Amino acid sequence: MTERESAAFTYGSYLKVDELLALQQPRSDEHDEILFIIIHQVYELWFREVLHELDRVVRLLDSADREAGARAQHSLKRVLTILKVLVAQVDILETMTPLEFLTFRDRLAAASGFQSDQFRQVEFMLGLKSRAAITRFDEGTRARIGLEARWAAPTIWDAFLHYLKREGYEVPEDQLTRDVTAPIEPSPGVQEVLVRIYRTDPRNSELCERLVDLDEGIQEWRYRHIKMVERTIGRKPGTGGSSGAEYLKSTLSRPAFPDLWEIRASF
Ligand code: HEM
Repeated sequence: MTERESAAFTYGSYLKVDELLALQQPRSDEHDEILFIIIHQVYELWFREVLHELDRVVRLLDSADREAGARAQHSLKRVLTILKVLVAQVDILETMTPLEFLTFRDRLAAASGFQSDQFRQVEFMLGLKSRAAITRFDEGTRARIGLEARWAAPTIWDAFLHYLKREGYEVPEDQLTRDVTAPIEPSPGVQEVLVRIYRTDPRNSELCERLVDLDEGIQEWRYRHIKMVERTIGRKPGTGGSSGAEYLKSTLSRPAFPDLWEIRASF
């Protein structure tokens, strides 16, 4: 960078603050709409960072790095801290009353968080994949390309099982070669391995706990989102066309990593 270029390089130009502040474009003159937009945009930025970190976790667990477990835990810790912020942010939007939301809700038309491709990408990485979530987006779009790539890619769970194999555990072969697009089903053979880890291997049992934290953290967000929906629109259907809170409740207690929950009863 020349001296001139470096003098012109500022906080604003680096972070593109002018461009960033031009991205909030309310469709009404209602006071609360800007909050609604900012909250959602901030969520999308955090989703981007979460995906960035989870990609690193998968890369590490899939690598021959001898410290992969410790490094993956480090990134998971960051994701978990972000998840706490994502849950806490719900409080801010809950300061908006149902009547305040109604002042601009009709301007949202069919737009809904249901169409957040980055949220679906996070779900895909956790093994919660659905073809319908992909075909909702036009071919060639950023969203479609991202989802297609994650549809075919191993989930965090698959990378974790390969890591355990490299750590010397007898992970059942059918689990190591499973179809990565299929839902993650409980496996008694994997559960046996996990119970052994919890009993004898504190280092890897910590990693297991961080995966449970991740699974629980997402469920915690889902729960808070449902409560926010209930207090803001009650039993009304969503702008995205679902039954609203009723539909959201059906997604609530679907764990991403069932084996890590199943084993709790065997101690
Ligand atoms: C007043 C606030 C909010 C209300 C009333 C609301 C309402 C809803 C409803 C009813 C759904 C179900 C789909 C539909 O029919 O639209 C939904 C889904 C969703 N919303 Fe919200 N939402 C709010 C805020 C947020 C925020 C701040 C985010 C952050 C990104 C968000 C992200 C999502 C996501 C990711 C889904 C899909 C969940 C799934 O399919 O499991 N929502 N929302």
